[in-house]
Amino acid sequence: LENGLAATPQMGWNSWNFFACDINEKVIKETADALISTGLAKLGYKYVNIDDCWSDLLRDSKGQLAPDSKTFPSGIKALADYVHSKGLKLGIYSDAGAFTCQVRPGSLFHEPDDAKLFASWGVDYLKYDNCFNLGIEPQKRYPPMRDALNATGRTIFYSLCEWGVDDPALWAGKVGNSWRTTDDIKDTWASMTTIADLNDKWASYAGPGGWNDPDMLEVGNGGMTYQEYRSHFSIWALVKAPLLIGCDVRNMTAETFEIISNEEVISVNQDPLGVQGRKVHEYGLNGCSQIWAGPLSGQRLAVVLWNRCSETTIITAKWASLGLESSTSVSIKDLWKHEYVSLNTVASFSARVDAHACEMYIFTPSTVTRSAS
Ligand code: DGJ
Repeated sequence: LENGLAATPQMGWNSWNFFACDINEKVIKETADALISTGLAKLGYKYVNIDDCWSDLLRDSKGQLAPDSKTFPSGIKALADYVHSKGLKLGIYSDAGAFTCQVRPGSLFHEPDDAKLFASWGVDYLKYDNCFNLGIEPQKRYPPMRDALNATGRTIFYSLCEWGVDDPALWAGKVGNSWRTTDDIKDTWASMTTIADLNDKWASYAGPGGWNDPDMLEVGNGGMTYQEYRSHFSIWALVKAPLLIGCDVRNMTAETFEIISNEEVISVNQDPLGVQGRKVHEYGLNGCSQIWAGPLSGQRLAVVLWNRCSETTIITAKWASLGLESSTSVSIKDLWKHEYVSLNTVASFSARVDAHACEMYIFTPSTVTRSAS
């Protein structure tokens, strides 16, 4: 969507994956504080996004959405002011249906009113869900909110949460700044890998202004190992997914922080070229050895060697699968070890990769000769 936003994928935090409905204004404020005190905000995590359950069970006497008076007694405007005072941005949530998934009032047929209200509160971001949609197709239900947001005159990031229904990559580029390509992520290796594969299909449709959204990060929520979370974060970064932290940043472990604060991995996600990396090759039994890669600015490449199985293995990336001539000489920076691991390398590169782990690199060719393919 051409609204001046999403030149690179959005970064921030969202309440749903960790807190679900158990949210209140204190949690949101403390999260904003934690994004600042940990340094995550400086790394680009600027959206503080409230998900479902912020609103009252009914519209008010004027027919307006109203915050739950027990959990958000100060109102959303006060929260936006607080978040803005920290240099951050506030996101809110509604639904392109009669109700939200947790049965709060939805915004379908209330788009102009609700968009105006959000803008008057100083909201910077809307995540727009897909429950209770009355069987109306998403192509009909999502554009009215785009138009309503646009008419407010406030620049508001528009995140479509239609769960991949009706292949949004094919139509949502003109509707939103990102669109979900799949069902909800779960905090498991099986869910994360399945979603990575499903989202890959739509790679060619992503770019500045509109991104494929394979759902929010589960890093730090406890259902995966350190290596699995590192793979989750590396692949989400490579495929230009929104980097929306989904854990409790007020209480995260050093390992969680190490993963989500890796500046070199973040720089791949935020690279100005804005091309989604893809699975370029898989081989071995059950496709255990995978190479995911994509171009970066400055003729560089981001490359991930991903072990999808439970035995340590050696994974080899051949230049042909990266679109490089085999004679191209490449220097290779390891983004998790933070050091150059190979200089003037030609033809192929191999690394030992543990079970469910990945290694991630930036390849900088010294002689740039791309094959025609
Ligand atoms: C479904 C969405 O896909 C989730 O991300 C979350 O917003 C929930 N609904 C909230 O009810």
